[in-house]
Amino acid sequence: MRWALFKVLDGLEQSAAFVVAFTLQRAIGLSRHDAATPTLDDEARKALRDAYVRCLLADTAWLKTQHSPFKHRFSRPYAQWLKGFPDFLWDARRVAQRRSRGDFQQTPPRAANYPAYYRRTFHWQSDGYFTERSAARYDFGVEVLFLGAADAMRRQALARVLERQESNVGVQWLDVACGTGRFASMVRRARPDINVTGLDLSAAYLRFARRIYGHPSMRWKHGDACALPYADGSFDVVSSIYLLHELPRRARFKALAEMLRVLRPGGLLLVADSLQDSDAPRLAPLLRAFSRDFHEPFYRDYCQTPLEPWLQAQVTLEAVESHTAFVTKIVTARRTTNPAQK
Ligand SMILES: C[S@@+](CC[C@H](N)C(=O)[O-])C[C@H]1O[C@@H](n2cnc3c(N)ncnc32)[C@H](O)[C@@H]1O
Repeated sequence: MRWALFKVLDGLEQSAAFVVAFTLQRAIGLSRHDAATPTLDDEARKALRDAYVRCLLADTAWLKTQHSPFKHRFSRPYAQWLKGFPDFLWDARRVAQRRSRGDFQQTPPRAANYPAYYRRTFHWQSDGYFTERSAARYDFGVEVLFLGAADAMRRQALARVLERQESNVGVQWLDVACGTGRFASMVRRARPDINVTGLDLSAAYLRFARRIYGHPSMRWKHGDACALPYADGSFDVVSSIYLLHELPRRARFKALAEMLRVLRPGGLLLVADSLQDSDAPRLAPLLRAFSRDFHEPFYRDYCQTPLEPWLQAQVTLEAVESHTAFVTKIVTARRTTNPAQK
């Protein structure tokens, strides 16, 4: 009975999320189509639709295995989104203007101390990653972009770790580039006995994360993924969700190397990010357009440089597994306890 009620509410909420996201995509011109936008063929469209539905069904199936599926499924910050909706709409105009001018260097002067690649309005988003106002719009914008499936994709990533983890008691989990704290808070909700630390380069996003998702058991750290402020082997799980596609190649592999360094032998690495060209050749036109339409200057290189060969070549890693959830690739790998035996 309880599960039947869950499924009804789940279906209603997901349908509403899809309709709102789809309508907003059209209204604010997110899904721009012009002569320069390559279109997907019918088969690719169907594959994309099927992947969307499969991801939502897999999410519902996973939620069914959890103690409190309601708590996970309906944890979106609805009140915060409702409050921020007028601002999101108002800002969409500025985003559209910035996009049509191709203007991405509008970050505040205090951004001078940050790496050059970071001092830009990624996704054309106002203030880049430098203000709490930008943080307040971020999760809503991501759900609009992914047609209401962003949380479902993140939960699929979480599920991949939990199913490979024997016990959660006392586990130290570092979420690198935690952004607004959405994924870190999912980890805590799913397993309150895990100690979660969220790290990000944006002080403003961290303030927002603490305010909206903060819990006494969670820690937040201002830091750079390319120089993690922790000793070797400090964490049982290290995750990074939607970070790598935003980094130039050198920084991308430096960040991965840092994640491995702070992972203890036997610990788990989780990387969830966009599909790459080799994962879905049919979607290549969509992936190409994303780089241009959402101001993601390093995304093309990310798509063309598969992560798995690099991970498989690390003597400290074993059992590299890859899965997909809609447009997200989820990679997990275990740090070896004895690299000599690999
Ligand atoms: C696309 S957002 C992803 C946020 C979040 N993980 C999610 O699931 O939505 C990218 C995040 O990476 C952070 N970031 C970018 N470069 C970073 C770096 N070198 N070190 C730490 N965080 C970084 C940004 O501040 C931003 O919060």
